Amino acid sequence: MADLRPPEGRHPGWPARLGPLVVAGGTLELRPPRLRDASAWSSTRLRDRGHLERWEPSSYGQGWDERNSLLAWPPQWAALRSLARRGLALPFMIIVDGRLAGQVTVGNIQRGALRSGWIGYWVASELTRGGVATAAVALLVDHSLGPAGLHRLEATVRPENEPSLRVLDKLGFRREGLYERYLDVGGVWRDHLSLAFTEEEVGAGAVARLVRRGLARIP
Ligand code: ACO
Repeated sequence: MADLRPPEGRHPGWPARLGPLVVAGGTLELRPPRLRDASAWSSTRLRDRGHLERWEPSSYGQGWDERNSLLAWPPQWAALRSLARRGLALPFMIIVDGRLAGQVTVGNIQRGALRSGWIGYWVASELTRGGVATAAVALLVDHSLGPAGLHRLEATVRPENEPSLRVLDKLGFRREGLYERYLDVGGVWRDHLSLAFTEEEVGAGAVARLVRRGLARIP
């Protein structure tokens, strides 16, 4: 019978740096958020409102500019750091060729007999279609289902979000069903597809699979 025991330690897998990996878009690595990411984070997200806002949960009482201002980062950074230190999240900044390119996060981590979390991500518009999100998710899948000791990752995606579905399909996430009227996006309850990936499906690793298919290279 399989050994179901979780790894030792209170918050396995944190802190960590993941990568580097070379993809068409550049050399990518994942590292924990820093307070000094404020300027790059805010300017990228303010510039990319049209690219990002239509896929992100509504935030009542705050407009896009306020939610993504320089002053919005310190409390977000502190919240992410606190969740990570308590073993409830694995939040990473995606760095491409030394510059902030996006974020990838595992959140709502449950341990015990569930050992699961959701995964979410965004990539700056100028860096899309270069394999960045696929590689970032692959690195975090391997880390979450390996050193961090999780068994299952779930992603929920609007059926219209073809680039995001393509990222998950390329990595072998399984489609499990449709959550109807699941999340408030732009003031409307939007249906979301649920996709999942478990430890049994990871094989030699998500990164190894990308490398084998010529979609990424370990420098
Ligand atoms: N229709 C179909 N496929 C598309 C389209 C489109 N309009 N646009 C891009 N694609 C394909 C690309 O060609 C590529 O596939 P390929 O490698 O087979 O050619 C794939 O989608 C994208 O793969 P990557 O290059 O690895 O991904 P990228 O770095 O471009 O990032 C992402 C994708 C994260 C979805 C980015 O577009 C983004 O940040 N979008 C806005 C925010 C968002 O939607 N985040 C995800 C929310 S859902 C979730 O977090 C679970």
